[in-house]
Order: sequence, then C-alpha cells, then structure tokens
Amino acid sequence: MDAQVFLQSSFNEQTLKPMVLGVGGSPRKSGNSDVLLRHILKGVKSSRLETQSVQLRDYYYQPCIGCEKCRKDKICTGLKDGMTLLYPLIYQSRGLVLVCPTHNYNITAWMKAFIDRLYCFYDFENTRPRKWSTRMQGQNRKALLAAVAEQEDEYDMGFTLEAMHRPLKALGYEVIGHLPVLGIFDRGGVKKNEDVLAKAEQLGRELATALKS
Ligand SMILES: Cc1cc2nc3c(=O)[nH]c(=O)nc-3n(C[C@H](O)[C@H](O)[C@H](O)COP(=O)(O)O)c2cc1C
Repeated sequence: MDAQVFLQSSFNEQTLKPMVLGVGGSPRKSGNSDVLLRHILKGVKSSRLETQSVQLRDYYYQPCIGCEKCRKDKICTGLKDGMTLLYPLIYQSRGLVLVCPTHNYNITAWMKAFIDRLYCFYDFENTRPRKWSTRMQGQNRKALLAAVAEQEDEYDMGFTLEAMHRPLKALGYEVIGHLPVLGIFDRGGVKKNEDVLAKAEQLGRELATALKS
C-alpha cells in the first residue's frame, strides 16, 4: 500500500487507543531522560495501560521545511523519513509523554524538530493571518512532560517545559503534569534520586487514570 494512503487511513477516530506513547528527546543513550521516561511508563503500565516508547535519536528525520503540502494532503508529504513511521503511533495514542533534557535553556534540536513536524495535524483557513484548528482536538488526548537540567536553579532550565507544553496544548492535548528535574549532570545520575523516580511513576499512574476517565 502506498505510504500516504496507509498514513491517511490510520488517521480516523476509530484507530485511537487509550495507549501512551513515550518520546525521549535526549541524544545521550542511557541518560537521565531515558531513565525518567522508563519510570513514567512503568507507572502507566502498573495502571494496566499499554505503552510504547521511542527515542528520537534512533530516527532519521528532518526539521519541517515549511512546504505547506500538508495543508492539502493532511499529512506530511514533503518529507518522507523517520517521522513517516512515527505519525501513526502519535495519532493513534491518546496519551503522550515527552521527556527532554535542557540544552541551552530549551528543548533539544531533536525535540524541536519532532514538535514542528506535528504541524501537519493543523487545518488552516485562507484568511490572513490564517485561522487554525487541529484534527487532534476533542479526542480526550492527555500529555505529561518531564525535563532534566544540570543546574540547580529553575532559571537554567529555561523554556524547556513551556516549549513542549504550548504546542501540545495548541494541538489539542490536555497537559496533566510537569516533572522538572534539576541538578543532574552525570549520565543516568537521576537513578540515585529515589524521590524523583517515585514522582515519575506517580505521574505515570495519574496519566493512566486521566486517560481512563
Ligand atoms: C548542548 C548542551 C546544552 C546544555 N544546556 C544546559 C542548560 O542550558 N541548562 C542546564 O541546566 N543544563 C544544560 N545542559 C546539561 C543537561 O541538561 C544535563 O546534563 C542533563 O542531565 C542531560 O540529560 P540526558 O542525560 O537525558 O541527556 C546541557 C547539556 C548539553 C549537552
């Protein structure tokens, strides 16, 4: 089946599942974001909800090129790359967890490119500025966000959580929780912080509960 036809056929409300997709935005394998994502999803699974997780560093994909082909095609057809594999997973999962380290007060380039590529889920009118709506609205989508930074002052985490929150809210997700983790530099160092891991699992359970309601 043609990839575009396959993609479009997976984007209808019948294919939506009360499943949680976890997305890791760190380039560092076995780093702190990986640990946090694992624990959040452990909490989700303990509430008997299906999960799947992906690490953006394992996918080859480009940032949005602004070709606007998605306006007509309703999916990204200007680029065929790793995102083509991720779109059905994103669309079909009612729950989304994004975990990202702070890089220069912000999300990583991987996470930014991932979020920009969700542009194809918007519908735009022909007015200027273009009025917009999203095809993910009103579907009981819920999200959870976590960020980790080396410095201990919240200032140094910068815009990391907000840079994920605002676009997800615009897309139609209700963001039910934030987990900011400060003061962690060493690879996997967060494993020693049992309070943070417990909080991550608790948030995972809360996400599952919210999705079941
Ligand atoms: C390119 C780069 C930029 C960073 N910028 C910041 C920053 O602005 N503020 C901060 O507190 N930590 C910063 N850090 C540190 C990471 O956020 C920190 O080491 C984090 O624990 C990494 O998470 P990870 O193991 O999931 O990759 C930066 C690290 C890198 C590699």
